[in-house]
This record gives sequence, C-alpha cells and structure tokens, in this order.
Amino acid sequence: MTAPLVEVHDLVVRYKSRGLFAAPFKPAVNGVTLSLPAGSTLGLVGESGSGKSSLLRALLRLVPVESGTISLGGEDWLAIDGPALRRARHSIGFVAQNPFLSLSPRLTIAQILAEPLLARGDKPGAEMKDRIALLLSRCGLPANFLPLRASELSGGQAQRVSIARALALSPRLLVLDEPTSALDVSVQAQILNLLLDLKADSGLSMLFVTHNLKVVAHLAEQLMVMRQGSVVEVGATERVMADPAQAYTRELIGFGRRR
Ligand SMILES: Nc1ncnc2c1ncn2[C@@H]1O[C@H](COP(=O)(O)OP(=O)(O)O)[C@@H](O)[C@H]1O
Ligand SMILES: [Mg+2]
Repeated sequence: MTAPLVEVHDLVVRYKSRGLFAAPFKPAVNGVTLSLPAGSTLGLVGESGSGKSSLLRALLRLVPVESGTISLGGEDWLAIDGPALRRARHSIGFVAQNPFLSLSPRLTIAQILAEPLLARGDKPGAEMKDRIALLLSRCGLPANFLPLRASELSGGQAQRVSIARALALSPRLLVLDEPTSALDVSVQAQILNLLLDLKADSGLSMLFVTHNLKVVAHLAEQLMVMRQGSVVEVGATERVMADPAQAYTRELIGFGRRR
C-alpha cells in the first residue's frame, strides 16, 4: 500500500471572536481525522455550518489551525511557512462554488489561465499559449474560448475555466467547495462527468465538498459526513449509501427515519 496523499489527524479550527470580552467561538472543525489515498476522491457532506469549508480552508492554509496535524505527501503541511509556503500552495488547486465570483471579470480566459503560470515565474510565449489551450481543452472547452471573458460564458463553461485554472500548476490535490451547487441540474452532471474523466485520465486526487450526498456518490470512493464540526460517519461510498450507520446520514441521503 502506498502512503496516503493527505492525512488529517484530530484537526481543530477555531475562528477568533472579536472584542476583548467576547466569549470564544466553538470550534468550526472539532477533531477531524481523515485519510485520502492518492488518486482517490473523498466526498465531504453535511448541512450548512457543519465545518466543511473551514476544513478546506485549513488545508489551503487560509485559517489558523488550533491543534491537530495535516500531512500532504508524507510532509508536515502545517510546518511549511514563509516563501516555502508560497511555492507549496501550488500543491493544492481550489475550485469555489460560484465561478463568476472567482474569475476576474476584467480578464480574458487566456489571461485567467496564464495568471498562475506567470505568478510562478513561467515565461510568456508560444509554449505557455499551447499549455493554456491544452488545459482548457482537457476541461472540455475549445481554444476559441480563450479571448472571451467570464461574463460571456454559461455557468457550466465558467466552472470549466475555474477547474482548468485550478489544474494549471499540476496540483497534487484538487479541493472543491460545492462546485456544482450554483449550476442547473443538467450542467451539474456535465461537470461531474468532467471530474470523472480527469480522475480517470490523470489520477486526480480530490476532496469534494457538497451538501448533496447524491452529487458526489459517483465520484467518491469514500464519503465523510460532518455535523457541527465533527465527523458523524465515514466509509466506503457504497457502504454509506446502502447502509448508513447514522440517522443523520440517512436523513441526508433521504431515507425515511425508520428502516
Ligand atoms: N470567518 C468566520 N468567522 C467566524 N465563524 C465562522 C467563520 N466562517 C465560518 N464560521 C463558523 O464556523 C462554522 C462552520 O462553518 P463552515 O465551515 O462555513 O461550514 P460549512 O462549509 O459546512 O457550511 C459555522 O458555525 C460558521 O458560522
Ligand atoms: Mg461551506
């Protein structure tokens, strides 16, 4: 067995409350442990406020971690700091819920996709152009989209651009926060199919957050259910879907209360 790509152990994330005498917040993530094998997908589900985004933000090093550990590729991910962290951030790609909020309206698709490459220090030129066109075509859009701006795209097309941008620096892990929740149902399926293809073609590892268990069931080998910052249930997708151990999971799947 190869070592897992991501290992999170007993992670606690707590936001700082404002004001000297304000009571401290309860932890947004409260002792989460998970393990993600390389090339596989973990579906993270739970109602709004359960701590899913906070867990992703901790992985992306956007919020301070109160306690616990995260390792990525066997390395202590929380120990990396300063300029090394800037480079290390390339290891994780991020896709947000609403592509129109996360893609700059002023830039063309070509500029959006070039941005991470230029920020890394790649030289502009024919090679970069080819790379950008290839990225976009891997995400299902032809090169004639490159001169357009995000406002000229449909929701599904814009989310394809977001995914292409997230993959620009060949991350080891793709983290997606409700990536289909803002899209029409038919378009959701197209985006899920794209992620399935990317997974099959390039062994992409993913952490996929959604409040809809059924959305991620096709994509994920494992499902993890969170509630109020804690893991309620985790297991192989087929087992969790067919035989949920917890009443809360049954509710999320839409089973009746009695079995
Ligand atoms: N920036 C923040 N400051 C304070 N509390 C926050 C902040 N972001 C989220 N929270 C709180 O943390 C908890 C988990 O939120 P979140 O991670 O966004 O959950 P989810 O993504 O599952 O909806 C909630 O109680 C939420 O109110
Ligand atoms: Mg969220």
